[in-house]
Amino acid sequence: MTQIAHKTILITGGASGIGRRLALKTAGLGARVVLWDLDGEATARTLDELRQAGPEEPRGYRCNVADRDQVYETAETVRREAGRVDILVNNAGCVTGKRLLDCTDEEIQRSMEVNTLAHFWTVKAFLPAMIEAGAGHIVTIASAAAVVGVAGLADYCASKWAVFGFNESLRVELKQTAPWVKTTVVCPFFIRSRMFEGVRTRFSRLLPILDEEVVADRIVGAICRDRAQVFLPRLVGFVPLLRVMPACWYDGLSNLLGINRAMDTFVGQHAGAAPVEANKETRPQ
Ligand SMILES: NC(=O)c1ccc[n+]([C@@H]2O[C@H](COP(=O)([O-])OP(=O)(O)OC[C@H]3O[C@@H](n4cnc5c(N)ncnc54)[C@H](OP(=O)(O)O)[C@@H]3O)[C@@H](O)[C@H]2O)c1
Repeated sequence: MTQIAHKTILITGGASGIGRRLALKTAGLGARVVLWDLDGEATARTLDELRQAGPEEPRGYRCNVADRDQVYETAETVRREAGRVDILVNNAGCVTGKRLLDCTDEEIQRSMEVNTLAHFWTVKAFLPAMIEAGAGHIVTIASAAAVVGVAGLADYCASKWAVFGFNESLRVELKQTAPWVKTTVVCPFFIRSRMFEGVRTRFSRLLPILDEEVVADRIVGAICRDRAQVFLPRLVGFVPLLRVMPACWYDGLSNLLGINRAMDTFVGQHAGAAPVEANKETRPQ
């Protein structure tokens, strides 16, 4: 069991969306929350909310997780100012949402840097202290796109498949070397949020667009119970079994479920990641 009360939880991309919900929930359970985000103003707003939500003083830092040096520098600042991180939630993410030939090289690179490579840098920064302390928990926010390829999401799916593999390797490696450090990977289908604004589902009973609040609740429950994997809805977890089918059957089933048309109505687009000044603590304006 991972305790949340009085523990330090660092959430990347914690100023908005699922990260913000997780921050509010864990603050309410008595955690000391540390937020990292690109957006200093949104971070300051979320810090204000966190002060109302729980007893511990939250901290926020502007950090572009795609920038390895910023990650290491900001991690050092966090260690100095907030102490050891007990629970690391790698949540920051971005989506291009274009067909492969419409993606610029920079967009593809950014997807891999934010959704995949950043996890290597943050885990390298915080895992050694967890191993030394004899406790810790690393949470990987992946996606249903980590187990299924989707038309219009080549860079996103590639980045999430990669991070799913990263988590799995890390999990088994830790079981051999430091079994007291737990891992949880979370693979949700589309969530009603700005990241995938406009996407649609064909069978909303089978594959509903998820509610942010419900997803955050499930993630907190999984952390507390040390669950290694969370698929939302559960059906997503059965997708790998379907791979025994010939690819043409599999593609046909995926088309029937409307998976490869989901992005046709997508409008949510993130602006490019501007470089930010590293590791400055964010104060409310
Ligand atoms: N929404 C969905 O349908 C869905 C489904 C499955 C999985 N997920 C995953 O869930 C996670 C959270 O998504 P969400 O829906 O909460 O999205 P969101 O509302 O866009 O939140 C993502 C947060 O990450 C921040 N961020 C982006 N790039 C960053 C960087 N380089 N460094 C630091 N922070 C960065 C964003 O800051 P800015 O606002 O400044 O960009 C934003 O605050 C992502 O990993 C996403 O892939 C989402």
